[in-house]
Amino acid sequence: MSDKKHGHVHHSRSTRDILSAEKVLSTAGLKSGDNFLDAGCGDGFISITASSIVGDNGKVHAVDVYPESIEKVKEEISKKGIENMEAIVVDLTSKIPVDDDSIDLCVMANVLHGFVENDEVREVMAEISRVIKPDGVFAVVEFKKIEGPPGPPFKVRVNPQDVEDIVSRYGFEVAETAGVGKYHYLVKSFKKT
Ligand SMILES: C[S@@+](CC[C@H](N)C(=O)[O-])C[C@H]1O[C@@H](n2cnc3c(N)ncnc32)[C@H](O)[C@@H]1O
Repeated sequence: MSDKKHGHVHHSRSTRDILSAEKVLSTAGLKSGDNFLDAGCGDGFISITASSIVGDNGKVHAVDVYPESIEKVKEEISKKGIENMEAIVVDLTSKIPVDDDSIDLCVMANVLHGFVENDEVREVMAEISRVIKPDGVFAVVEFKKIEGPPGPPFKVRVNPQDVEDIVSRYGFEVAETAGVGKYHYLVKSFKKT
């Protein structure tokens, strides 16, 4: 899909087949009872796995700007009878409809490079920082900066140092950068108190 509101064409192809949701969520440290945000969820495959980890006392917010993706996620939620998850159309560059300091863990998978390309990092990071709890986790997953396919063109990929610099600028402390599968890495950070 092309996100017409923005200069960069965010690639909407799911990474479901090449990225393990379990690996992402275990590396990020998702726990039972967590309030989880999937920022730019696409087809929601990470959120679906997250919903079984957070359980009945937790909650999953799957958000994406692309209404067709959110419709599909909603269909999967109802087909699978998932009760602790909601899917909402949200533009991360404006307002995320969740309370301040309410999210235990936010994953942003294969999305941040598009905001870098569009010069929208400031708006998005202000919202991400608003909604995550002090000491809560922000986990950014990106394609390694190597030639594809799969993944976006080499020139728009960001390397771990770029991601670490961005999160550090917006009030997060980097805890760990780790490979997750063949094509991706994850930068885990905590919101400073
Ligand atoms: C490459 S896909 C990644 C989807 C999923 N996280 C994954 O890893 O499979 C990028 C996603 O970011 C979403 N996106 C782009 N700009 C956005 C914005 N401003 N607000 C919310 N979502 C956005 C796109 O609609 C798309 O679903």
